[in-house]
Amino acid sequence: MILSINSSKPYDVEISTSFDGLKSFATGLKAAKILLVTDDNVSKIDAFNDVNTLLSNTGKQVYTYVLPSGEHTKSEKYFFDLHRCLLNHNFSRKDLIIAFGGGVVGDLTGFVASTYMRGVRLIQIPTTLLSMVDSSVGGKTAINLDDTKNIIGTFYSAIRVFINVKVLKTLPQREINSGMGEVIKYAFLSNTIDDEYLNFDNVKHDDEKLMILIKKCLEIKKNIVENDEFEGGARALLNLGHTLGHAVEALSDYSISHGESVLKGLNLIIDMSKKYYAFDDETYNAMKAIIKHSGIDFTSPYSGDELLKKVMHDKKSDSNGTTFVLLKQKGMPELVKLKNDEIRDLL
Ligand SMILES: NC(=O)c1ccc[n+]([C@@H]2O[C@H](COP(=O)([O-])OP(=O)(O)OC[C@H]3O[C@@H](n4cnc5c(N)ncnc54)[C@H](O)[C@@H]3O)[C@@H](O)[C@H]2O)c1
Repeated sequence: MILSINSSKPYDVEISTSFDGLKSFATGLKAAKILLVTDDNVSKIDAFNDVNTLLSNTGKQVYTYVLPSGEHTKSEKYFFDLHRCLLNHNFSRKDLIIAFGGGVVGDLTGFVASTYMRGVRLIQIPTTLLSMVDSSVGGKTAINLDDTKNIIGTFYSAIRVFINVKVLKTLPQREINSGMGEVIKYAFLSNTIDDEYLNFDNVKHDDEKLMILIKKCLEIKKNIVENDEFEGGARALLNLGHTLGHAVEALSDYSISHGESVLKGLNLIIDMSKKYYAFDDETYNAMKAIIKHSGIDFTSPYSGDELLKKVMHDKKSDSNGTTFVLLKQKGMPELVKLKNDEIRDLL
């Protein structure tokens, strides 16, 4: 399956059950060198060796860089270490960087690709469900600074994204749940994903269903990103569940995964939306049923006051309050600026 993203620099996303497309694409590129970046979990899976061998057979010089896994790797240290690696191996602007991993590898490597010599071509090969349905597409790159997530970054899209759903077989359940948090976010942003797809047990043994689920999520992202690539307005709708989700993630010192935090944030947003729009119990219960159907823990261990304190430090907050994505109903998100008192009342 191919999904074309018609952003300022258009590119295709290939969703399949192999890396055959990568081989022919990389062979056809005029690049003498490839830097294949991954982390120390992904470097151990067979697919990494397969891709490394496949790339070596394209006649190009392949270098690998294995990062420590985890959110803390999205740091200035590894940003500069990767640049040093490129420089030491005399990479030029004509060469190629490949991010092979989850959102951490993708965000950091994408940022490096956008800044080394003011931009080297990048291929994204996402290996987590979260990075397949979300972070590998749309061009946002970032590193964290001290306690602030994604505060330094660029918009820089890959020239192509290769998604091989077979790679998900080795992904731990915790990371599957994390990806499902983003999947369920997409289900609330539009009405195009059937409820059946919102419990991973229903799709995990069926590659075709997995590919359809990923494509449906990316189609929703594509529609939003194509209309607002650089987040002047509507792209912020993709932050559904994220403002409170980031607060949960930070309060847990990242022991609660990104997507699971988003799911908890989304659950709270449904409660806030019910109060804000005064919708009826039937609408509310139908929304809650979708969250429960996921089989993932969606309850937040933190009080409204704890969350509000964190939200006030969010980069999306200012002295006038914080912009939230609320739900008028399922499939009808709306950006709403709320003052701190209003947030306290709604939480
Ligand atoms: N750029 C964007 O638009 C965007 C969107 C959403 C999230 N993000 C970012 O993405 C990051 C989270 O990404 P993530 O959830 O993929 O986390 P991650 O990259 O940390 O990966 C999660 C874990 O899974 C392991 N792993 C990855 N693929 C595997 C595989 N196939 N088999 C076995 N283990 C595997 C990794 O080593 C890691 O331990 C956050 O930093 C978040 O800010 C970015």
